[in-house]
Amino acid sequence: MPDSRRAAMLAALRSVGAEGAALTAGPSLQYFTGWDVQATEHMTVYLVSEAGDACVVTGLDLPSAEADLGGRAKVFAYRRGEVEATFRAALQAAGLAGRAIAVERLRLRACEEDALRGGGAGELLAADGPLATCRQVKDEGELALARRAAALGEDAFRAVLPAIRAGVTEDEVALRLEAAILQRGGHLGPKRAAVLTGARSAYPHGQPGATPLCGGDLVIIDFSARVGGYLCDITRTLAVGAVDPSWQPVAAAVLAANRAGVAAVAPGQSCRAPEEAVRGVLREAGLEEAFVHGTGHGLGLDLHEGPSLSRASRDTLQPGMVVTVEPGVYLPGRGGIRFEDNVIVTATGAEVLTTLPRELIQVPGD
Ligand code: GLY
Ligand code: MN
Ligand code: MN
Repeated sequence: MPDSRRAAMLAALRSVGAEGAALTAGPSLQYFTGWDVQATEHMTVYLVSEAGDACVVTGLDLPSAEADLGGRAKVFAYRRGEVEATFRAALQAAGLAGRAIAVERLRLRACEEDALRGGGAGELLAADGPLATCRQVKDEGELALARRAAALGEDAFRAVLPAIRAGVTEDEVALRLEAAILQRGGHLGPKRAAVLTGARSAYPHGQPGATPLCGGDLVIIDFSARVGGYLCDITRTLAVGAVDPSWQPVAAAVLAANRAGVAAVAPGQSCRAPEEAVRGVLREAGLEEAFVHGTGHGLGLDLHEGPSLSRASRDTLQPGMVVTVEPGVYLPGRGGIRFEDNVIVTATGAEVLTTLPRELIQVPGD
């Protein structure tokens, strides 16, 4: 992990008045410490401190944690009945006993919070925003992984496309896509591929189920693949056989909105600009009310991270950010269309990572 990340993190901690941080399994732990560990029913708490890092794991995880961390942190293992004493020892080793400690409120679990307080931590200060901000601008290594994730995800999608037709269920499409990602050496993202057919394609979010694709359906496929920790987040919309012709102008409007949103991605530009561009196109087409979410979000080790491309955003696009542009139109009871692309902000404009067609992709309806 580059020293610059640690320096940025320590500055973020100071900005909230904390002297150290307590991180749990997740993207920030991976980014700042290089430790990629899964959350389980056991506690894993990593203490970052200028005095030296320490971490607490369950006894079973002690050997793997020591091997993974290679001496970067002093590792303490807790046993049932000794949780507070173990956390007390770790906090003391990190020089954080009684000190204000930054935490991610979106990640820290109640059991971990209790253990920190019981072990003698001082105030626990929310630092989700400042820590996430450190991760927004990616270095060249991270951008290379983002490109590979998008290329691998698209390759998997293309490989699966010939098997998608009427009669196949949402679940089967998702499974094929997930298998194709794994076969290409990718890992799966944090959510299942959302394959939503017919009226279900009007759900902005959803899980694939046993519903079969039928002639006349629209199908939204929103999927992610992970390479070296970094994610792509891609959505395309399929037409199963002949769909109602009234969808064609909707698809054209979503495509135009997507193009306008991507064109508004540039360094120094407000993160509200792509949203305004997308909304402008959909308003003109009389479809703004059917666009029920923001235009996009940052993408990296987490599927949804900063900056937000929405009306409420106060951020500015900077070279090295990776964002999605994902306008959609959702007509409840009928269906929806979304085209989601992944874009790197460059020094001079934008590099679009996604190349799959941004039109209704035709698959057989019988
Ligand atoms: N609308 C879901 C997503 O791609 O973020
Ligand atoms: Mn997205
Ligand atoms: Mn998505």
